[in-house]
Amino acid sequence: MLTNVEHIGIAVRDLAASNELYAKLLNVQPYKAEAVASEGVSTSFFKVNQTKIELLEATSPDSPIAKFLEKKGEGIHHIAFEVEDIQSEIERLKAEGFTVLNEVPKRGADNKLVCFLHPKGTNGVLVELCQEIKE
Ligand code: CO
Repeated sequence: MLTNVEHIGIAVRDLAASNELYAKLLNVQPYKAEAVASEGVSTSFFKVNQTKIELLEATSPDSPIAKFLEKKGEGIHHIAFEVEDIQSEIERLKAEGFTVLNEVPKRGADNKLVCFLHPKGTNGVLVELCQEIKE
């Protein structure tokens, strides 16, 4: 089951400059900075009440974020939905005809198991499913 929008991911060219910009915009400092080497990204997270924003900067030229910036420029990169059981959501969405980019959930930023749906099946929007890792 999808429960809520967990965060919105925004692709940026310069994470340090964007951290300053979003700190002014949201009037809070980022609560976390984290590199995800497997995805070739550096991220930072802001939280205002229940709303979270993830800024993503590419750390290598073949990073998905580098490709996105090249094609579309800076802007909203993905919408992430919190799910209770990521594996059962993956099965459900596959059965509904969505293209799942990774059938095995992988470890994403901010202590989440994540899975992405191909934007071609979701009106051009990259959708992330994420489930909190409880340890
Ligand atoms: Co995300």
